[in-house]
Amino acid sequence: MRVVKVNPTNPEPSAIQEAAAILLRGGLVAFPTETVYGLGANALDANAVARIFAAKGRPSFNPLIVHVPDEAGARALVREWPEHASLLAEEFWPGPVTLVLYKREIVPDIVTAGGDSVALRVPSHPVALALLRVSALPLAAPSANRSTSLSPTTARHVEQSLGDRVDLIVDGGPAEVGIESTVIDLRGPQAIILRPGVIGPRELEPLVGPLGVRGETRGEAPRPAPGMLERHYAPRATLVLFACEDAARVVAEANALTSRGRNVGMVVLDDSPATGRVARLPRDVNRYAQRLYTTLHELDDAGCEVVYVERVPEGSAWDGVRDRLERAAKAQD
Ligand code: TXA
Ligand code: MG
Repeated sequence: MRVVKVNPTNPEPSAIQEAAAILLRGGLVAFPTETVYGLGANALDANAVARIFAAKGRPSFNPLIVHVPDEAGARALVREWPEHASLLAEEFWPGPVTLVLYKREIVPDIVTAGGDSVALRVPSHPVALALLRVSALPLAAPSANRSTSLSPTTARHVEQSLGDRVDLIVDGGPAEVGIESTVIDLRGPQAIILRPGVIGPRELEPLVGPLGVRGETRGEAPRPAPGMLERHYAPRATLVLFACEDAARVVAEANALTSRGRNVGMVVLDDSPATGRVARLPRDVNRYAQRLYTTLHELDDAGCEVVYVERVPEGSAWDGVRDRLERAAKAQD
């Protein structure tokens, strides 16, 4: 495995060509996107995609996101391109929004976990875009970490999690958004959020109208929610969520554990009453998201066995962050 550092805004052509060559011969390249690092392979090569599942230890029923350089690249992979897709692509691509649509036959079954739909997105990171353009391949790319563990926001996180399971890591600096894209199902008349992200209902509804509710049937078979595994996005430490008003009790508990020799961490909002060894994150959802995984990686690296995390504010703007925290906490139930 090799790590090649590139200029994040204007990547060196030689590095991009090296990465593209690996992808063209069926190899695995980890590369930065604006959300998290992706583990990429040629989406049209079933054998290459199989290597992604093997490297991640990912169950085969969990489908992958396919990255394309532009809307035309997306349309080439789907049977239908509804009006909502045009509107969302126009507004949010390149960016952290993934659209689920009916796939064309050329998309191998292994990418979609045997399903009839494919998840597509145009990433905005210049390095990802350069790789898509130079390779001229659609790239299947889940987050570049072992399945069920914390997603990587830096090249070092990828290296720590995947090591020699990947052929090349393109280091384009830290990811800016910090949590994975919003996944939106556009197969029915109403758009449905399958995975919340930093783009939420407030940004989406003006364009596509009221969002549908996941699991509602509308006379069709219930939609599967593949990938909605419980133990997902989890740090190694046990993560415990607590409400702000319980801060005093939680700090006392943390201190008691610490005095018994346990390694305890705490993540709180910047105005939290909690004191002691705490990592403070901004009460601004975008800046919070940007630092969440990085902070949890740091606490893992520091050997924390338990991490107490203050609950984030209510409201749909925080849906993406709240979702990741709740899953990480649930993972250790
Ligand atoms: O921000 C992101 O989306 C990152 C970067 C690398 O682009 N990628 C990412 O991929 O998070 P992954 O594979 O870790 O997450 C894919 C998510 C899963 O929740 C999966 O269930 C959902 O997308 N998904 C993929 N294909 C789907 C499909 N055909 N139908 C429904 N959900 C799908
Ligand atoms: Mg993932």
